[in-house]
Amino acid sequence: MGLGFFTFSPGLSGMENYQTISVAVDGPVATVRLNRPDALNALNSVLVRELVGALDALEADDSVRCVVLAGSDRAFCAGADVKEMSTLSMDDISKADHLSPVWERAGRFEKPLVAALSGYALGGGLELAMCCDVIVASEGTKLGQPEINIGIIPGGGGTQRLPRAVGRYRATEMILTGAMVTAEEAKSMGLVNRVVPPGKYLEEATKIAVEIASKSPVAVRAAKKAIAASQEVGLSQGLESNLMLFYGLFATEDKKEGMSAFLEKRKPSFKGK
Ligand code: CAA
Repeated sequence: MGLGFFTFSPGLSGMENYQTISVAVDGPVATVRLNRPDALNALNSVLVRELVGALDALEADDSVRCVVLAGSDRAFCAGADVKEMSTLSMDDISKADHLSPVWERAGRFEKPLVAALSGYALGGGLELAMCCDVIVASEGTKLGQPEINIGIIPGGGGTQRLPRAVGRYRATEMILTGAMVTAEEAKSMGLVNRVVPPGKYLEEATKIAVEIASKSPVAVRAAKKAIAASQEVGLSQGLESNLMLFYGLFATEDKKEGMSAFLEKRKPSFKGK
């Protein structure tokens, strides 16, 4: 699957018209790239609206099984747009609610999201990456929650997702000092899955997405849901919900196909049913 052979999915008409993102679909893998180079892909209200719309469309398109979310070599995303936020009062930000839909939408996206980071993943940008299921980063990528440096705190879930990912004390240090960590440090904390040479982050993330896309979509969706529960509920409730999802898969054609293919020593052909 070559990145040079992107085609637009017929189900995603109008996607070419985005101003702040690009969307390309190659078979079962879609790649969404943040594209505000002049602002290091900072999240402004237009980008939020476009990204939410793209995720809606990709979730509804049954041919798409996994999504890679990337920025550019220079920056995955430098956070919320400080210029846009600078004039907002408390009333404005809480009423306009122009930022939170992006983390909310990405956080409840039903298909796997693979984040491909390079350059900077800061503030709301790191929070967006933490809405993803797998995180790949280029060597030297800087990750952080620098909001404290501009007199605010993370607004997109960083105070909740970061401690769950790296533990309370590491998260507290990052959030209270605003210091950035490198991709290598982030990997050692469990915040990044793989660190790859510069220029390889998109390729590596796509490789993982292709692998995930080859599995049964119903089983993948159930696994993602069960894992999400592990971050939100206690162990016994999580185990119970896992069991329900596990039992449910025994009613699917993909389960029948997967097990038959194993016994017949052939590759399964999953239909997502
Ligand atoms: N919002 C708006 N514009 C931004 C931006 C942001 N978050 N981050 C960078 N930019 C803009 C810069 O203003 C600059 O624009 P101009 O050329 O017009 O001046 C351009 O992108 C390039 O940035 P720099 O010149 O600063 O590039 P650099 O390589 O010297 O530094 C950086 C890179 C360390 C990432 C630095 O840009 C920086 O510190 N950015 C801000 C990071 C930040 O504070 N993020 C948190 C935002 S708040 C947030 O996200 C809240 C939340 O949780 C919801």
